[in-house]
Amino acid sequence: MKWLLPTAIILIVVGLVGVIVFNYYSFTPSQPGTVRAPFRGPGAIAQGSFSSNGEQIFFTGTSSRDTITVTGGPFWFQMHDGGCANCHGPDGRGGTTVMMGRFIAPNITYKELQKEGFNNDLIKRAVTRGQDEKGGTLSSNMPRWHMSDQDLNDAIDYLKTLAP
Ligand code: HEC
Repeated sequence: MKWLLPTAIILIVVGLVGVIVFNYYSFTPSQPGTVRAPFRGPGAIAQGSFSSNGEQIFFTGTSSRDTITVTGGPFWFQMHDGGCANCHGPDGRGGTTVMMGRFIAPNITYKELQKEGFNNDLIKRAVTRGQDEKGGTLSSNMPRWHMSDQDLNDAIDYLKTLAP
């Protein structure tokens, strides 16, 4: 039984290190000017293989024109980054259970957004300021994106190519 105390101490130390690492990743805010890493998860497409900038933004959250930064979103998103597809699905239709099943992202194909009352300016407002079509606040699971108007237009053009 003389190993019991050392084992307990080791477990406590490991636990504390885990908590520190977890806090570091969950509460480090996104820094302006940070280049976000492309999405590397399943279904990732190598950068450079996109047929448009809008498609690249949709899948990776990065732009070939400008630096895109992002704040908010759930814990795993802040750690791994990614694009619209990570939550809204590769076809933009949402509905799929997102990692750990905490929330379901809505359909953001252009026709569907139009049906709900969004126009281009309101889509831009949703993406950059997290407001729905009526001006209400979207949940913080939807990250707030800081991207140029040109990038927003490219992303919207890509949403138009998705079947509703
Ligand atoms: C980390 C997950 C996540 C990512 C990444 C993400 N979204 Fe969202 N988005 C959400 C969730 C969740 C909602 C719904 C929030 C709510 O209803 O309060 C949402 C809502 C929206 C809405 C409003 C739709 C509606 O019907 O109200 C638009 C538009 C939108 N997202 C566009 C985008 C675009 C464009 C991107 C990529 C640049 C993107 N989102 C990336 C999770 C995400």
